[in-house]
Amino acid sequence: MRFDLHAVIRPEVQAQVPYHTGPEPRPGRRVKLDANESPFALGEALRGELAAEFARSLADVELHRYPDPTARELRGLLARDLGVAEEQILIANGSDEAIQLLQMVVAGPGASLAIPVPTFAMYAIGARAMGIRVAEVPLGEDFALDAARFLDTLRRERPRLVFLAWPNNPTGNLFDPGAVQAILEACAGRDCHALVVVDEAYVHYSGRSFLPRLGEFPNLVVLRTLSKIGLAGIRLGILIANTDVVREVNKVRMPYNVNALSQAAARVVLAHGDIVAQWAAVIVKERERVLAAVGAMPGVRAFPSQANFVLIRTRRPGDAVCADLLSRGIVVRNFSRAPHLADCLRVTIGAPEENDAFLDALAATLGPGSDT
Ligand SMILES: Cc1ncc(COP(=O)(O)O)c(C=O)c1O
Repeated sequence: MRFDLHAVIRPEVQAQVPYHTGPEPRPGRRVKLDANESPFALGEALRGELAAEFARSLADVELHRYPDPTARELRGLLARDLGVAEEQILIANGSDEAIQLLQMVVAGPGASLAIPVPTFAMYAIGARAMGIRVAEVPLGEDFALDAARFLDTLRRERPRLVFLAWPNNPTGNLFDPGAVQAILEACAGRDCHALVVVDEAYVHYSGRSFLPRLGEFPNLVVLRTLSKIGLAGIRLGILIANTDVVREVNKVRMPYNVNALSQAAARVVLAHGDIVAQWAAVIVKERERVLAAVGAMPGVRAFPSQANFVLIRTRRPGDAVCADLLSRGIVVRNFSRAPHLADCLRVTIGAPEENDAFLDALAATLGPGSDT
């Protein structure tokens, strides 16, 4: 039987390259620094205590029933923590799903979105699959947001949606809050009307947020995730916005998008905000140590970061450095062929011993004799 798949799949989808999630995990000792996860499996010392709490809490979950479609209890906890109303919160299957829902509510004939580049790949991937035009605005020197150029694009393109990762992935920097504010204002003006998504996936490592400014900007949407603080496996993202925005986005959300076990696990961990903050503090300290150590090495430049990863640019071809690190058991994310990121690698900050292993391997990779 012959079947022409190309005749049925939308051309926008056929044109896309599949999202790359890095090498498959293989048995053996590997230092995994490629996905911006937390290295702490719920914190060594407190793992036992948390595991017992998980067991108690999870035992109560009614697995024969559908999960709470609105994650009421979890939203209640978050509302208290974040100082917003429950109606301002939507829980998603990872912030990836929240990104997709936002794309869905603006998609349609003539729809476009604007993003700085380089930035998180999913903003453009989902949009293109839905036929949304993507206006890319290159970042300026040292990956700073070029506000004038961005505002110009807004006037010309009139997008319905803007994504700003704050801090940005993969560059690690926090855009100037004044520039972000100018974009928020411009997107609620006569020339342009757009939702502006400030994606705060790395807020625990930057300590900066636009959340307190929700009242000022009716078009502001803040995204958070539990993936970067030790719960990447449960897939839990959080969208916070004004009630009207949340009501519209909820219309396109699948009713049971977040499973009962994930909701329970999130409730347990959110009740331990102090522990999450302790893990984050260790990562921030390690980030500064890694930045200083890489900065002192010849043949490599480390860009400042406010996230749980650092971007480095090597004098040797990035592909070769990456392969060399891999042969030494260190997995990092290779961006060296991506636009604007020639010979750049993104390295997640791991536990102290993992960072030591990375620094040793990088020094060996860049050391005398390897500068070919
Ligand atoms: C800026 C940014 N937003 C969203 C995500 C996706 O997070 P989640 O695991 O919640 O889907 C990532 C993951 O790397 C990210 O860097």
